[in-house]
Order: sequence, then structure tokens, then C-alpha cells
Amino acid sequence: MSSAVELALNAVIGRPTEPVMLDTPLSVDQLPTPALVLDREIMTANIQTMSQHLGKYGKGFRPHAKTHKCPTIARLQMEAGAVGICTAKVSEAAVMVHAGIECVLITSPVSTPDKASAVNAILGSRVTLLLVVDSMEGFAALASAIDDDKRVGILLDLDVSMGRTGIRDDALFLRLLEAVHSDDRFYFAGIQHYAGHIMHIPEFEKRREKSLRSWERLASKFDLLEQQGVTPDIVTGGGTGTFDIDVTLDPLTDIQVGSYIFMDEEYRQVAGPTSDRFQGFDLALTVACTAISQPQNATITVDGGYKAFASDSVNPVCDALPDLQFRFAGDEHGVLILPSENPGDNEISAVRLGQVLEFAVPHCDPTVNLHDQYWIREADGMIHSLWPISARGCSW
Ligand SMILES: Cc1ncc(COP(=O)(O)O)c(C=O)c1O
Repeated sequence: MSSAVELALNAVIGRPTEPVMLDTPLSVDQLPTPALVLDREIMTANIQTMSQHLGKYGKGFRPHAKTHKCPTIARLQMEAGAVGICTAKVSEAAVMVHAGIECVLITSPVSTPDKASAVNAILGSRVTLLLVVDSMEGFAALASAIDDDKRVGILLDLDVSMGRTGIRDDALFLRLLEAVHSDDRFYFAGIQHYAGHIMHIPEFEKRREKSLRSWERLASKFDLLEQQGVTPDIVTGGGTGTFDIDVTLDPLTDIQVGSYIFMDEEYRQVAGPTSDRFQGFDLALTVACTAISQPQNATITVDGGYKAFASDSVNPVCDALPDLQFRFAGDEHGVLILPSENPGDNEISAVRLGQVLEFAVPHCDPTVNLHDQYWIREADGMIHSLWPISARGCSW
């Protein structure tokens, strides 16, 4: 293995993964803010709802750990019936495997020799590692790195219209299938198709139509498999935005849901089948911020900015005070626009210095990646423990 990857791998697998109990429970306003707060009851209900929903339709639950990056949460998902977990990258997989998760699908192609050697290093006898492949170059990198006594399941990643990763060309599909079949270290595990650009289409019917159409367009690839006499064990894809759409698709064996576990403002603004808000899952994750400065009457400044919230989509929202508007004010600050120009005139403008407010996060995955731990809130409303976000920064 190249020394750079070896160093990077050793740095991530040495990280703490276990929960830490607090000696004395704390209220949210006693936390060092900005603080990522996770409500365990709501998260558990979200996990149960998703697992039961997929089970009802005979589909597997293969949750994506790129959302939470936390082995403790991955274990809870496995206990709730997950068939395995997904990670986006090799480093995330390394953290999960090291923490004892036994079935991991890496949903991004591993295409270079250094990453392939890292895959080889984390492959142990108790681990089922599934990889996606979409190029001959990528497969060649794996073939030159995996030891003779190891076995890796390969899924062929298919693209239709997203244009991010995946095979479109039939000839390449067949060449890769043959390459996998002709090497004993690999076995053909199935198909992956992820249409991420569909997940946040606001209108339910349009999202449904696009997702079903996307899978329909893969029919020629399934025909090719049939002609070769090959039946895929796994056909995986989908996400939170299509959790109640893709379950009707025959070939799909399991769904890679990620954000449902926490929810975020971006998803809450996506319509469900009978509401203009997303249905089925509640907000489990917030960032608590403290009001720290008020240079003018019309606004008050909190201690969370770009380093506390991902800023690639909508703005944070305070459910307790929905009339407040949050504006990013740099790396470390957010400015709350108070509804009244005269603080004290009404209840809302009474946000006072020192007050702690919780905000729904704009986009959960990249927000989680900005924090070291979840502060875990239990049913009594108090924080009892912290759970390390062990795969924070694992984007290689
Ligand atoms: C390949 C893949 N599968 C599943 C997901 C999960 O998506 P969501 O968070 O919308 O459930 C993602 C998220 O980006 C992804 O990239």
C-alpha cells in the first residue's frame, strides 16, 4: 500500500467510536454551542418507520451511513433489520468495518490503485464488502490490489440521466460482467442505480414519474443479464426522496435511504403524496446556537455560521420561532432577522443575548460532517451522552 493511504487509513481507524456518558445530564442551553443535538427517540422512530415500511413491501433496508458517519447509529440500523449499510467512500467504510459492521457497500466507484489497496487492507474474513464498478480502469485497479485469498462482491453501477457515476454503454456493461466472472477473487453481486437528482423534486407526482421512468430505462441492461443467464442477487438504489415510490419496482431488492433518519429543512420542503411537506419522518437533528451579539435592534447574532451548518441549499429554520429569518453572516455567525424593528414590542423580538435556539439543519449530511459529536437528547429532554462522529471528514 502507498504510504499516504496507509497513513490516512491508520488515522481514521484509530478514532474513538464508542458513546461517552455524561456524569450529569445537561440541558441543551448548557452545551458548548454551536452544538449538534440528536433526539434519540425521534431518530429511533424514524429508523423503525423506515425498516417496517420497506419490510411491508418485501424490500431490504440498506441505510446510507454517509448521512450519520457514526458506528453507533449504524449498529442501531443493523439491529432494526438492515441487510447491511452503505458508505460513500473507502475511508467511511474503514471506520464502519473497524467498529464491527460486517456488511458494507461502498456506493462510489473505487477506481485508483491507492484506494483499491485500502480496500484490500480493510477486507477481513468476517467482512462482506460490496463495491460498485463502472469502468474497466476501475476494475483493473481492484484486480491488481486484492489478495488471492480474499473475495469482493461487485455491483455494476448504472447511470441513465444523472451523469455522476455509472455505466450507460451496453458493451462496457458486458465487458465488466465478463471481467468479474473471470476472476475468482470477485463475484457478481448485482446492480446499483442511484438517481440523486430526482430525490428533491418538490412535486410528489413528478418525482414519482421520474423515478419510475429512470428504472424503466434500465430494462435493456436487465435483458442483457437475462441473455447471459445471470440473475442479480442485489438490485439497490433509491433514497429518502423515493422511499415510498421505488418500493413498487419489481427488480429492486433494497433501498439506500440516508437522510430519513434525521430529516433536514431541504427534505421537509419536498411534498409528500398528500401534503406539501415531506411525510413519514420527523426532525431528529438540530444545531443549537447561542445569541451572542446585537449591534442593531432589528437583528440578533448567533454563534453558528458556515462552520456549523452546511450552506449548499436552504437556510436554517427555528421551529420554535418560525418568524425568525436566519441569514449566514460568515464562517462563525448567523444573523437572525427579528420580525419587529422594536425588540420588546412582541414576544418574538424578545430573543435575548445568551438565549440558546435550536435550528433545523438545511442539509443533514454535510452539516454532520462539520461536527465532532452528537449530543444525545433522551426522552426527559436532557442530554445524557455524546456519540462520536467517527467518520467525520472521511470523504476519500
Ligand atoms: C449513492 C447514494 N445512495 C443513497 C443516498 C441517500 O440519499 P438520501 O439522503 O436522499 O436518502 C445517497 C445520498 O447522496 C447516495 O449518494
